[in-house]
Amino acid sequence: MCSVVGYNGPRPCRQMILEGLSRLEYRGYDSSGFACIDSTSKIAQVKTQGGIEQLSLKIAAQQGQKQELNGAIGIGHTRWSTHGVSSDINAHPHFDCHKTTAVVHNGIIENFVFLKEKLQLLGHHFISQTDTEVVAHLFEDELKNQSLEKAVLSVVTKIQGAYALLVISEKYPDYLIAIRKSSPLCLGVSSTETFVASDVSAFAGQVDQVVFLPDESFAIISKSGYHVYNFFGERIYPPVQKSTCTWTAEGKAGYAHYMLKEIYEQKRVIIDTVNFLRSHKSAGMQQLNVSHELIQELKNIHFIGCGTSWHAGMIGEYFMQEIAQVSTQSFLASEFRYKKFFPYPRTVTIIISQSGETADSLEALRLLTASEQPTIALANVASSSMVREADGFLLTQAGQEIAVASTKAFTAQVAALYLLAHWIAYIKGLVTTQAIARAEEELFVAGEILENSIERYKFDIITRIAPQYAHYKNFIFLGRHISFPFALEAALKLKEIAYIFVDCYPAGELKHGPLALIDAQTPVVLFSCLDETIYKKLYGNAQEVKARSGHLIVFAFEHQKDLIALADTVFIFPKVNPLLAPLVMTGLVQFFVYQIATLLERPIDRPRNLAKSVTVE
Ligand code: F6R
Repeated sequence: MCSVVGYNGPRPCRQMILEGLSRLEYRGYDSSGFACIDSTSKIAQVKTQGGIEQLSLKIAAQQGQKQELNGAIGIGHTRWSTHGVSSDINAHPHFDCHKTTAVVHNGIIENFVFLKEKLQLLGHHFISQTDTEVVAHLFEDELKNQSLEKAVLSVVTKIQGAYALLVISEKYPDYLIAIRKSSPLCLGVSSTETFVASDVSAFAGQVDQVVFLPDESFAIISKSGYHVYNFFGERIYPPVQKSTCTWTAEGKAGYAHYMLKEIYEQKRVIIDTVNFLRSHKSAGMQQLNVSHELIQELKNIHFIGCGTSWHAGMIGEYFMQEIAQVSTQSFLASEFRYKKFFPYPRTVTIIISQSGETADSLEALRLLTASEQPTIALANVASSSMVREADGFLLTQAGQEIAVASTKAFTAQVAALYLLAHWIAYIKGLVTTQAIARAEEELFVAGEILENSIERYKFDIITRIAPQYAHYKNFIFLGRHISFPFALEAALKLKEIAYIFVDCYPAGELKHGPLALIDAQTPVVLFSCLDETIYKKLYGNAQEVKARSGHLIVFAFEHQKDLIALADTVFIFPKVNPLLAPLVMTGLVQFFVYQIATLLERPIDRPRNLAKSVTVE
């Protein structure tokens, strides 16, 4: 899940490529690089461990050296390591033996070991540990005696895996080559210049027409335009679309981190998501592209996602079952893909994804499409691959989420799923339009509570509670019913931004093993439920923890006096619709975790080893 950006046109491209890369840095940020064809038709390049900031510093330090980095044909890259550690050498671009061909790549070349050994036997000299370098060496051979198009076709028959590749070569100094299989790649076009990037936002504001390269295709880009071919070498004509993507340099608006800003944006995101879905109700239903007949006869709803989006789906299960009365199951995309698949009749699958680009979710979607199962993408990025490839879509209105740890996108997903459950219930004749209006109101109230509870506990968390808990090495998180998937989500936040180990269980499972872990050194965080039966069970589980000298942090509701009395630390919320209990707790738990991570001096917005958009398997 790296990002690639390229340019061919009349302007010096370095600054534009660096700007594009910095917009896509959420996809990877452990190293970066740039190469261009200079005024003497030679390749000039710079690359480094670290992100665009480090790359810019390195470029500044090189000013005045004989390398010219001002060409008008160039390629750039930010990396999230898959093969080989993060280092200057493993940073892209990668080169052939004579540094006359430069390649940047997003994806994985699965058969690179085999190809590397073969190329080494032929005398090629490798310097990096990456899978990508084989592509540069393959081009070195293939470009010797044939046209550019034939060379590309020959390379793609040899490499296996997923790739978005950009290639420049001194042999063809007027051209930029863009090749796509599975990994996304799009062209930004005007009459005078062509951009190419992993995502439209890289060139938003520069050109307003976009061509999404179809899977298994490549583009040969010259100063006078571009030609696209499929992997059989036939010329194809993918549609030129008007790009609706705009780019505003958001900034942190005075907050210390994007994550904190995004935590505070959640009330607004709920309002925007509800208002958007309300005003687009009929258009929204059309965009879902599921007939009323199918909804009325629906047997199953399946959710598929990864990480936070999977957790949102697990919460959505309760909405669909209780409000829309449809049997619902959530699947982890990375597991779903490799299990035996039985097409279900009268079943709709909703792929949940902030980015709409996550490789495992996208491949699961493709598997379903191939089996002619109806699919809907619930995504936050309108121009994403999932929105384009699913039968229908529903857009959340979280706005651009920059911090790697998802906060407001999760909230928007939960709010959208709550409304979708009501829409389905309405079409099935289970509820009236008043119930939909009430649901919208409930979501607004939940947004208020989400924000107010941060304000209520803010001072205590900063001054007393976060310092008290920041030094524990392990936590156990517990939930039951709808608060279990929420506990999973809260635990994920603590793991990814504070690097603290958390084990998370459905509370009823305690006595089947994890109870052995309870001691005073391992705080137990318990998320309550509003359903009376579940609450009683949860209270019993809290007793089990206290009876073994456990330390208990509780997220409870104001009338739950017994549970509140047991807690060592407690956060109390006003009563809401029981199904919205997770939503009201969301902001506070994120804020609590954020403060712990801050005290531990973690790089909040860019946790180690992670990237925002996971576009490799
Ligand atoms: C965690 C987080 C990830 C993503 C996951 C799926 O805070 O952000 O777990 O939720 O990588 O990403 P999307 O939703 O873009 O498919």
